[in-house]
Amino acid sequence: MENFIAALEIARGQEDRGVSFVDGQYVPGIFDPSFLKLHPGNGKKILDTRFSSSSTVSSALEIARKAYETRIWRDVTPSEKRAILLQFSASIIQNSKRLATLDALEMGKTISDATQDAHVTAALITYYAESVDKWFSKKALTASNSLAYNSFEPRGVIGAIVPWNYPTCNAALKIGPSLVAGNSIVLKPSEHAYLSTLLLAELACEAGIPRGVLNVVTGRGETSGQQIARSSSCNMLTFTGSHRTGRQIMAYSAASNGKPMLMECGGKNASIVMPDMKDSIASLAERIAAESFANQGQLCVASSRALVHRDVADSLTEALHAAALTRLPADPLDSSSRFGTIVNGQERDRIRARIALAKEQGARCLVDTSPDVIRRAGSYLNPVVFDQVDPGSDLAQVEVFGPVLAITPFDSIDEAIAIANGTEYGLSATVWTNDFKSIRKYSSQLNVGKLQIRADVTSTSTHGFSLGSEPMGASGFGVEFGMDALNSYSRLMSVEITG
Ligand code: NAI
Repeated sequence: MENFIAALEIARGQEDRGVSFVDGQYVPGIFDPSFLKLHPGNGKKILDTRFSSSSTVSSALEIARKAYETRIWRDVTPSEKRAILLQFSASIIQNSKRLATLDALEMGKTISDATQDAHVTAALITYYAESVDKWFSKKALTASNSLAYNSFEPRGVIGAIVPWNYPTCNAALKIGPSLVAGNSIVLKPSEHAYLSTLLLAELACEAGIPRGVLNVVTGRGETSGQQIARSSSCNMLTFTGSHRTGRQIMAYSAASNGKPMLMECGGKNASIVMPDMKDSIASLAERIAAESFANQGQLCVASSRALVHRDVADSLTEALHAAALTRLPADPLDSSSRFGTIVNGQERDRIRARIALAKEQGARCLVDTSPDVIRRAGSYLNPVVFDQVDPGSDLAQVEVFGPVLAITPFDSIDEAIAIANGTEYGLSATVWTNDFKSIRKYSSQLNVGKLQIRADVTSTSTHGFSLGSEPMGASGFGVEFGMDALNSYSRLMSVEITG
């Protein structure tokens, strides 16, 4: 209770300043009595929800355009841009506790995960700050009287629409490369978690990003989100969220000015286990559980399917069952909690309905929600593991976006590849093997944007943010991460000067 009261004070202090950040200033919002803002850890009210008015959204778009056209950011020298962005990153670290508290209070991730998110957010901004003077394009070979080269031009005003699951990281993934490419931004966080994004905009402005270059507006998708997506003042949309919303946004673009888009939507990601991992089953189960249940499974790259070779299926299933049982939902605001809540009661009920449907369709449920968790106020849900999941069933095909793992056995690599590729998504996959022939086959035949092949249970990712990738199918399109993300937020122009 003490943690909750302290967090409420931070949230109310943030909200009192305003619910939009436009032209370097907070702007008050309009009360929305139909949107209940409850803490998912205890079901108690956090705030009287206020969102940006439609005129504030219009003014954010106008201000961003003016900032772009007057070149107040675009013409800042690379070294100065770098210094400002590094200062922004440093102040994210200084404010990490506040940012983390706002996220844990609004969407129920654990305070330790939210603190880690704030550090990842700062690291992303640092990565893009450091890219400022390392990103340039090509010069062509020409006759001696001419000069021909490509230049990266900003796209103009970027409309960015992001979800609630990683509020600060999702915002930084859009802000970092957009700013380095010289654009202005109107960013709309999710209506379920927006306070930390407002604070980020304030910190950016304090660090020296000129007023009007980074603006944040709040509100529901159908109102503020749609207004941005339909606006002809906006030159590009960058979106992270469900593929249903993504497609709606494409229609808004088509109906307005045909703006280009970057879409990072969901996934139904497979973790594929080959029989040569038989000596590491317990530790592998722990790894897969960590990758499935991170952020309570509310993560686009969560391993929501485990495809397990029949030779190790029984032992791994048993170990995954045990690993899931160790993840006990607990108060998100308590620093000792390792597994928080679902973002809200409506989402938890949607996930429960998916679990019920999977049971009806014949999957075997190994771990189910305990009565204690059902009774608790807030939106807690135990991790759930199903085995014997039919690859064609809803559970294997539809993104649950919650802590639900579906185990399906397979007998051959060809079968594993067919099952892994057999959904409408194409975001990420992980393969566990040290067999070279299998590695070659998986790496050339899996249809995903991000592929991780792990030869050892202890191996971890070491490339930082350096590799961009592009999803496919219902998972979206456009490159995020790495220096390649800078190209997503710029337009390639050719220039030829002949003497
Ligand atoms: P969502 O699609 O409901 O909402 C995402 C954002 O779009 C929110 O800001 C929302 O207000 C806005 N929005 C909703 N309807 C809109 C409309 N008609 N016009 C304009 N904007 C609209 O997704 P949600 O529930 O917030 O997040 C969960 C989804 O996001 C999952 O499907 C998940 O897989 C996906 N996601 C994808 C990631 C990726 O990088 N591929 C990362 C994180 C989440």
